[in-house]
Amino acid sequence: MVGVAVVGAGHWGRNLVRNFAALTDVELKYVCDLNEKVRQTIREIYPRTNVTEDFQKVLNDPSAGAVLIATDTPYHFDLAKQALEAGRHTYVEKPLAMSSRDAQELVDLARSRGVKLMVGHLLEYHPAMNYMKKMIDRGQAGEPLYLYFQRVNLGIVRKNENAWWSLAPHDVSVACYLFGDQPVSVSASGHAYLQKGVEDVVFANLKFADGKMAHIHVSWLDPHKIRRVTLVGSQKMVVFDDMAAAEKIRVYDKGAEVRSVASYAEAITLRTGDILIPKIPADEPLKTECRHFIDCIINDTTPRSDGADGLRVVKVLAAGSESLARGGEPVSL
Ligand SMILES: NC(=O)c1ccc[n+]([C@@H]2O[C@H](COP(=O)([O-])OP(=O)(O)OC[C@H]3O[C@@H](n4cnc5c(N)ncnc54)[C@H](O)[C@@H]3O)[C@@H](O)[C@H]2O)c1
Repeated sequence: MVGVAVVGAGHWGRNLVRNFAALTDVELKYVCDLNEKVRQTIREIYPRTNVTEDFQKVLNDPSAGAVLIATDTPYHFDLAKQALEAGRHTYVEKPLAMSSRDAQELVDLARSRGVKLMVGHLLEYHPAMNYMKKMIDRGQAGEPLYLYFQRVNLGIVRKNENAWWSLAPHDVSVACYLFGDQPVSVSASGHAYLQKGVEDVVFANLKFADGKMAHIHVSWLDPHKIRRVTLVGSQKMVVFDDMAAAEKIRVYDKGAEVRSVASYAEAITLRTGDILIPKIPADEPLKTECRHFIDCIINDTTPRSDGADGLRVVKVLAAGSESLARGGEPVSL
């Protein structure tokens, strides 16, 4: 059995609580939250779990071998550092930290203590994303050329992080995951309309060494609720629409070919073929992610979204912030 403590059981953390409470080989030992209303709700649903506002109480109990941090992002680093120093396997919600230096420190700490560090890059566990990844790895889309992400909605408006840090970690992690690479430069433009210094909308471009690109549009000030990833490959184009109840993936047999028609001329032919809607398992990505963390602890394996992955994403986010501050100038990584 792995004893688990969830720290921060607000809007998102309660989903972690629900999932870990339902997993086999897991005992939900503690839920820790500063908010009494949150604690009261958890007590009512999970009467056998220790509910506390005192994080030290969690750290003092060695039977809580795994600590999950789902507090507001600015507290991730400090809480994760304490958990790692106490020798706990640690899961941190995205983003891992708010600076590359802090994220690096957590990675180093996990390595030196010999414990797991995993980051909640949820989309890496989404069956539809895994389908897209397999297509790319098997060359079924041809050469992957570029990706674009749309993650827009009205709300949730946050105060202590902008839309880039709040929403883009998912897209950055998926871009790196699908391409199996990290960008060499980032440029980002955005604007703070509602609160001074807190960008509500950001348009970013990630460039990869071999010419691949990823464009990310995030906003919490938008009339549409869109969660979409589009991959353009040299042979096929693939769209993942997370708002679709079913049919989340569509594979378009579309493309363009440049052929030499004479020694001096080229012709571009466009190809429009069938559209395939594959059957994607309806597994809850968060359940898969939580199970994966426990399996990595039990089997002593490296999480897919490990600390290094978390650090890579934070480096891209930090470069994006720098570019935002410099009016969209590309920032090298
Ligand atoms: N993976 C995803 O898809 C996803 C989705 C939403 C949010 N998140 C992440 O989850 C985290 C929480 O977001 P949220 O929307 O649930 O925020 P929230 O404000 O609803 O909840 C945060 C909770 O943490 C508690 N808290 C804050 N500091 C604490 C501390 N020091 N000790 C104990 N409890 C503390 C608060 O009382 C609150 O209940 C953020 O990092 C966010 O990026 C991830």
